[in-house]
Amino acid sequence: MTDNNAPIGVFDSGVGGLTVFREIMRQLPNERIVYFGDTARVPYGSKSPETVTRYSEQIVNFLKTLNVKAIVVACNTASALAMEEIENKYDIPMIEVVKPGAKAAAEATQNNRIGVIATEATIKSNIYCRYIKNLNNEISVTGKACPLFVPLVEEGLLNDPVTIDIAGRYLNDLIKIDIDTLILGCTHYPLLHETITRIMGGKVALINPAYETARKLKDLLTDLNLLTENKTLKDASHSHRLYVSDSAEKFKIFANTIINYRNLTTKTINIEEY
Ligand code: DGL
Repeated sequence: MTDNNAPIGVFDSGVGGLTVFREIMRQLPNERIVYFGDTARVPYGSKSPETVTRYSEQIVNFLKTLNVKAIVVACNTASALAMEEIENKYDIPMIEVVKPGAKAAAEATQNNRIGVIATEATIKSNIYCRYIKNLNNEISVTGKACPLFVPLVEEGLLNDPVTIDIAGRYLNDLIKIDIDTLILGCTHYPLLHETITRIMGGKVALINPAYETARKLKDLLTDLNLLTENKTLKDASHSHRLYVSDSAEKFKIFANTIINYRNLTTKTINIEEY
């Protein structure tokens, strides 16, 4: 029987999924989260579906050893390329980030023109467009891969002139076609919110799928009767944990800038063993 007080597993290719972690913390403050960031193998966005699926399976195998009660695939690329496969393979409640993001954007657009920025793999999969068209066929969806955003974020260059310059080049095409809604279809991108707003202007709604994903997670845990009975996360034995496949120290410093939590322990594991 699943333990209600077991943690929720959240994973991403690197630091980006911490934006989903942060939102889950906000909406489900009593839940314990174990996070895995695949920092040794990031980026996923330029890799094949087979590779991303293999990586995702290894991560799910690892998270299962921590007895998680549910898994959030907090990586758009893994959601697009591996979700179907891992959902069928494992008997554990799972949610991903693309469907919630598509739904939030379809609800937000007024002029039926949505832009999606994401990794090359996510754009190539056309998954946002398919989900949005399923919700409303009248909406036009234009995708733009922004491959340099992930390394810029991983390097912490969030508001750097280089990032602003690159963002201007990537987003120019979307400005020209007059979108009113832009999906930040990669978990790293909400960290560039300020820069992207500066380029797109205040009239374009930026959709961060994390908000809708956390809401959906709450519904899922409620439906399955899996919400924790704990009233608070107060001691070290019952706190969030971070795991990475590369340097724990570097990751912890970055994580502390995103997540305001006093007790973040970070550990490196060898993900290839799982
Ligand atoms: N953060 C991941 C995503 O949401 C991808 C970044 C990468 O590894 O390329 O798609």
